[in-house]
Amino acid sequence: MSNENDQKPICEDGVIKGRRLSNRIRTGVQDEVEALVAKHGISPKLVTVIVGGDPGSEMYVRMKHKASNKAGILSDHHGLPEDTSQEDLLKLIDKLNNDETVHGILVQLPLPKHIDEKKIIGAIDPLKDVDGFSPTNIYRLFYGGEKLSAATPHGIVTMLDAIGMDDLSSKHAVIINRSTIVGKPLIFLLLNRNATVTVCHSRTADLPSFTRQADVLVTAIGRRKSEDDSFYISPDMIKEGAVVIDVSTPLGDVDFEAVKGKAKCVTPVPGGVGPMTIAMLLRNVLDAYSAQIS
Ligand code: GUN
Repeated sequence: MSNENDQKPICEDGVIKGRRLSNRIRTGVQDEVEALVAKHGISPKLVTVIVGGDPGSEMYVRMKHKASNKAGILSDHHGLPEDTSQEDLLKLIDKLNNDETVHGILVQLPLPKHIDEKKIIGAIDPLKDVDGFSPTNIYRLFYGGEKLSAATPHGIVTMLDAIGMDDLSSKHAVIINRSTIVGKPLIFLLLNRNATVTVCHSRTADLPSFTRQADVLVTAIGRRKSEDDSFYISPDMIKEGAVVIDVSTPLGDVDFEAVKGKAKCVTPVPGGVGPMTIAMLLRNVLDAYSAQIS
């Protein structure tokens, strides 16, 4: 299946078209799923788990299901109460690990404080770990042979690839985030593309002195509470011609309109990293399914 967006550039008028690239990847996933289901007679299946009723998590997971189903991926969801014990959650993961109709498992983070996230993520079968967070998949990323990699960082480097920045030799990439979901996996994905990588975070002094050096600036601060808050990343904080990737939702970290005039390319919020995260998750589910049925 092809669509009219196939030929259009991903960076257009200084804006990285995350939705356009996401649609392209999702169409490719849908085509591959269709062919594999026709060949093997088994549909890929993603199972998500949320513990507690965080509205943000519920919204993101709903989007993941909708996109999966559109791509021909079956999905199931376990919404567990906030007071679910770690033991019960581990039992559920064990059951899903052993269910051969399930190809991908995603436990939405964060988890309630009484549950040890490391134990839960570590219990997921690496073959079904479509988040790429399990020890085996982190180890593969560390050595540069990743199979399933974290959706948001993977979406970011896929956008860079699509605008001709697949080799970042002599480029300085600055990440403002040190989380296990975004910043830490992104360090390795960028290093593996030969970037010089600097990581900044809430305890970094003089942030602009780093951001002004960035050829690629990835920001995931996420502290804006309203449209009226001052912008974190203003044009005076970036280098002329930089590529600026804004991971934060729903409000973004970047003064988009002002930065657009100075950057080579900047991602919009919404329509930038968010749709790419979904596309990379679907890619991971397809890859996990392919590995398990072959
Ligand atoms: N919470 C925020 N982003 C993510 C993600 O990519 N995966 C999971 N499992 N939880 C998240």
